[in-house]
Amino acid sequence: MTSSVLQKPLEETSPISAEALSCPHQYNERLRAQGSVYKCPQSGIYFVTDFETVRKIARDHETFSNKFGQAMRPMNASQVDEEIAAIQAEGYPPVDTMLTEDPPVHRRYRGLVNQAFTARRVATLEGNIERICNDLIDKMLARGECDFVLEFAEPLPLTVIAEQLGVSLDDYELFKTWSDAFVAQLSGMASREEALEAARMIVQFQQYFAERLAERKENPQDDIISDIVHAQLEDELPLDTPEMLSILQQLLVAGNETTTSAIAEGVLLMIQHPDQFAKLKANPDLVENLVEEVLRLSTPTANMWRVVTKDTEIDDTPIPAGSMVMLRFSSANRDNVTYPDPHTFDVERENAGTQIAFGYGVHMCVGASLARKEMNVAFRCLLNRIESFELACDEDELNYPPNVLLRGLSSLPLRIH
Ligand code: HEM
Repeated sequence: MTSSVLQKPLEETSPISAEALSCPHQYNERLRAQGSVYKCPQSGIYFVTDFETVRKIARDHETFSNKFGQAMRPMNASQVDEEIAAIQAEGYPPVDTMLTEDPPVHRRYRGLVNQAFTARRVATLEGNIERICNDLIDKMLARGECDFVLEFAEPLPLTVIAEQLGVSLDDYELFKTWSDAFVAQLSGMASREEALEAARMIVQFQQYFAERLAERKENPQDDIISDIVHAQLEDELPLDTPEMLSILQQLLVAGNETTTSAIAEGVLLMIQHPDQFAKLKANPDLVENLVEEVLRLSTPTANMWRVVTKDTEIDDTPIPAGSMVMLRFSSANRDNVTYPDPHTFDVERENAGTQIAFGYGVHMCVGASLARKEMNVAFRCLLNRIESFELACDEDELNYPPNVLLRGLSSLPLRIH
């Protein structure tokens, strides 16, 4: 499949088809070669692929809006059927908050949520992240083999954020199920059955967290959910329950799968490049740059939507109001103008820190410092405790499930020593 899609003329395949998503880097290279913006004749969507233009558009939130909230809900309005509406009626109304709002409304949400993701909060989590990493490594080493995604890269961010959102250990499975349901819904590939299931999951999630929010209002703890409940800005209303639920949902969707994918890809890159692994073993101070280089190459939020608010143009291509634009962060991060030899994994790459895996502009990831901390501690612990890893499957068996926005390995079977 991979080679055939690359041989066809561009206009025969949509860039968001499963075929194109199966070889994103080569496909994006073709898109970049034909200019900074590509209009797909099949869908009418405009794809933006080079580093400078992606940054330019991400900065211009007045022309390129984030109000694509409908895409995050189970189905669009015209398709909502009675069954879904009846399920939704049992929960709280959906509200567009951070990711799916624009300034000035966005500013209030970011101002309030930033209070929960301070440098102090992230610093206090370091010891806990290290403890979780070492526990997970103990279990993997005891068996000598593992599915690294399932046994390390997934439970690490999930445990960190679950603890911070007041989820008890007994409810972890439930928490993971909600996270998966939201991601399935976002994938753009959900069937109607999956959409119905996602609606049920969202209501269950809302009811569970409405209780946690009420608990923390009465009895604040030293955690992120308490910071969100009690966040205040001068002259601004505090967050109400539907707004907080929307924000918690975004933390789950935006925070788990992405960090999992980045950590798993980092380990795969180290296995594929023993010379780089040896450099890291010899000099752990390189880990900070390793994190940036892994973010650049993995870019787990590969793509993101924008909606055009007024007639405009990008590099002489006219774009009418109402058009959908896709920012291809993963393509920008492999633009050879900005990153010489862009597909090479180089832990000493000088400008790795300029990568835009966390986006750019007002929507730049609110959890970036938490994700960086998790990756940093995870790679340090792994490098410190693991002598060597090797793949326990053929490289061509590794699978990246097709997803319009997110990209990451579904599993990573390893032998570890
Ligand atoms: C490696 C891990 C991560 C990656 C690659 C990533 C990537 C991104 C990107 C690209 C955006 C910008 C979207 C846009 O421009 O429209 C974003 C926004 C966001 N991220 Fe992350 N993220 C990561 C981890 C996290 C974590 C750990 C959390 C929270 C626990 C989080 C929460 C959010 C939220 C709430 C937004 C929306 C911010 C806004 O619109 O103002 N992310 N993330």
